[in-house]
Amino acid sequence: MKGNKVAIITGAGGGIGRAIALRLAKDGFTVALNDVNEEAVQLVSAEITSIGQESLTIPGDISDREQVFQMVDKVVERFGRLDAMVANAGIVQVKPFIEITEEDMEKIFRINVFGTLFCMQAAAKVMMKQKSGKIITASSTSGKRGVEFLSHYAATKFSVIGMTQTAAKELARYGITVNAYCPGVVGTKMWEEIDQKMSEYLNVPLGETFKNRVDNIPLGRVEEPEDVANLLSFLASDDANYMTGQAIMIDGGIVFS
Ligand SMILES: NC(=O)c1ccc[n+]([C@@H]2O[C@H](COP(=O)([O-])OP(=O)(O)OC[C@H]3O[C@@H](n4cnc5c(N)ncnc54)[C@H](O)[C@@H]3O)[C@@H](O)[C@H]2O)c1
Repeated sequence: MKGNKVAIITGAGGGIGRAIALRLAKDGFTVALNDVNEEAVQLVSAEITSIGQESLTIPGDISDREQVFQMVDKVVERFGRLDAMVANAGIVQVKPFIEITEEDMEKIFRINVFGTLFCMQAAAKVMMKQKSGKIITASSTSGKRGVEFLSHYAATKFSVIGMTQTAAKELARYGITVNAYCPGVVGTKMWEEIDQKMSEYLNVPLGETFKNRVDNIPLGRVEEPEDVANLLSFLASDDANYMTGQAIMIDGGIVFS
């Protein structure tokens, strides 16, 4: 398997990360699957095996710097290279702006910002030696526009775009590209959590917030994890070699600028 390109996908145990892992495997990548949920990531690994592609599971927490660097070392030790780092793992918390505590802020930044930074740094260390590689980060429509009850989440996703743009400039001389993807309303566990909390804060029935958001999507349907994976297939491929520092909306038309 040394000839295959190699990708790491964090948060690959479900939702968008799982879809990206399956798509990159279908595209011919050997995939390393990370998630805090060990059981979930093993199931995705079995799915990858069933489509005839090799995978390695590396359970772990991206907010732990040492674990992230060890994960990348393990992948390079096993496969000899790293072509794409998909820093996908992230969490959400729904709260009115005035109720956010220091602990809330620390928790969400620790995973969405620090964790993403560690993944970018650990990948860059290997890719700078290789003089090639693609670092791809998870932002959001909330990384372009504030969304009610998601202010600290939005702050982390704006941060991801800032780090992505800066790293793109610093790493370009090594042949490394750095881009972010910005999904809209994707039907995953994350949105189940948002909908549930929103129903409490707004005192509306379960499912109503989700339905309202989907009804306002110009393309008229919820985003599937596979919609995001289609973009990732391009971003991780050689076809994207001349694109860097971008934060690409993949949201059915929610945000136009
Ligand atoms: N669902 C959406 O509508 C949406 C929209 C925009 C952006 N995003 C972003 O896309 C990414 C994936 O979202 P999703 O909807 O698939 O979420 P999800 O909650 O369905 O899945 C996230 C996965 O990440 C894992 N994870 C959480 N914390 C982790 C950690 N510290 N270390 C390793 N793994 C961890 C979880 O176990 C889970 O399997 C996130 O960064 C999210 O912010 C999602």
